[in-house]
Amino acid sequence: MNNFDLIKQAVNLLQQGKLVAIPTETVYGLAGDAKNVSAIKAIYQAKGRPDTNPLIVHISNIEQINDWAIHIPDKAFQLAEKFWPGPLTLILQKHPDVPYCVTGNQDTVGIRIPNHPLTLELLKAFGGGLAAPSANRYGRISPTTATAVKEELNESVDLILDGGPCQVGIESTIISLIDDSPIILRQGAILASEIETLLNQKMNIHQRIKEKIIVPGMHDVHYAPEKPLYLIDKLQILDFLTKERSLKKQTAILSFSEKPALFNESHGVWLQADPDPHIYATHLYSNLRQLDHSATKTILVEAPPYKEEWLAILDRLQRAAHRS
Ligand code: TXA
Ligand code: MG
Repeated sequence: MNNFDLIKQAVNLLQQGKLVAIPTETVYGLAGDAKNVSAIKAIYQAKGRPDTNPLIVHISNIEQINDWAIHIPDKAFQLAEKFWPGPLTLILQKHPDVPYCVTGNQDTVGIRIPNHPLTLELLKAFGGGLAAPSANRYGRISPTTATAVKEELNESVDLILDGGPCQVGIESTIISLIDDSPIILRQGAILASEIETLLNQKMNIHQRIKEKIIVPGMHDVHYAPEKPLYLIDKLQILDFLTKERSLKKQTAILSFSEKPALFNESHGVWLQADPDPHIYATHLYSNLRQLDHSATKTILVEAPPYKEEWLAILDRLQRAAHRS
């Protein structure tokens, strides 16, 4: 089917309250008509997500903010003009017409314009807003390919629009503009310093990233593989390998170092991570999926440096390590 027919089919399904998985630049979303309460309920059901956890509304042009939010500060338009379409979600006071089931019963709503040609086309053809959380089961790794969406949600999605692998690879930066002093609720590809420069104002950051690498019990389980994941430094990896070498097929490793000569197939899987944070992020979730699927028992990830451009990645890794 060509894109034109696919979009037509997707619009038809959405108008009937069905769910469509959509590609975005960050991760794939599980989309439903944001004004259709039964579609929203189906999204929570498909993900197994608590209905107190709000969804982001995706739109296709800046003027549509006014359909979803009220009392919108100038800062919101400044940010939207600079970063949309792109990986930034604005939290604003909700418009009375936005169903409470979209916002997890809160008076605020998250809104963004995603940057993916297929989804922008779909949003324009659909006309309204699409509520879309990441298209994974609750607590699991977000999908960055159509195949990963299928793995996660299979029958619960009526159509998957395959837009290829996501370019950014981790979820959008979320900024709340509800109070006079904005606060970054989730770090992402748009950095706090970029927002500070634009708004000429210091950002508060809802801090859940810890400089110390291993942080048991501090984070919600989220973005998590099925196998235990340990976030450790390079020396610990080498130490682990020397101790565990006798164990066969035990370990899946994501490290900045090249695979050492002593590590062979019988020890497990070794993936070498890219030193550029943008490229690292693009591949992060597909790397974690590959390690999770390998015939190993444990995942070891070498912690990236504690620097601004790595903070969003550190946040996801620390949450993935939570259970371990
Ligand atoms: O990049 C992304 O943001 C992706 C793509 C699909 O757009 N979406 C995504 O959605 O990551 P989800 O549902 O997996 O994560 C959305 C986060 C949740 O942690 C939710 O609590 C927060 O956004 N959120 C949404 N609305 C909110 C609100 N009104 N107030 C506070 N947080 C909100
Ligand atoms: Mg999610």
